[in-house]
Amino acid sequence: MSERTLVFLKPEAVMRGLMGEIITKIEKKGLTIAAMKLIQMTREQAEKIYAIHTGKTFYDSLITHVTSGPILAMVVTGPNVISFLRNMIGKTNPLNAQQGTIRGDLAINIQKNIIHGADSPDNAQRELEILFKPEEILNYQKPTETQYLY
Ligand code: RTP
Ligand code: MG
Repeated sequence: MSERTLVFLKPEAVMRGLMGEIITKIEKKGLTIAAMKLIQMTREQAEKIYAIHTGKTFYDSLITHVTSGPILAMVVTGPNVISFLRNMIGKTNPLNAQQGTIRGDLAINIQKNIIHGADSPDNAQRELEILFKPEEILNYQKPTETQYLY
């Protein structure tokens, strides 16, 4: 069964020129990008996405950071896409993220850790509704998916 999730590349990924490398990883894994856009998140959008972290020591700094520049937001679909992407992203702190993961390979700072990925189906749905309109999310299947992946 195909799932969908929300990920976004944080401003440091855009500014460091890492978008293509990360998109390539997602495509090569066999996942499908159903929507993608480069935007600057508003404070309201960031506060909604990170509502669960309200009041934590890193909250204000996190909101300021993710709204400081462009982010690349994506809706990604595929079987077990939430778990696959969380594994590909790696541990929050790049110090603990294994080599081979996006954070393990590309980050050294816990806040500037390159990418956000929703962590549950409910959060994925809630978060993607904050950044995308329903008509921006495409429903299609690549020919390789049915024949060579599943
Ligand atoms: P994300 O939500 O961004 O995919 O990352 P995550 O689940 O691995 O981490 P989470 O605990 O949800 O934290 C959200 C983001 O807040 C920043 N953070 N800073 N101690 C700190 O300074 C700290 N802890 C978390 C990170 O940018 C993290 O991705
Ligand atoms: Mg999280």
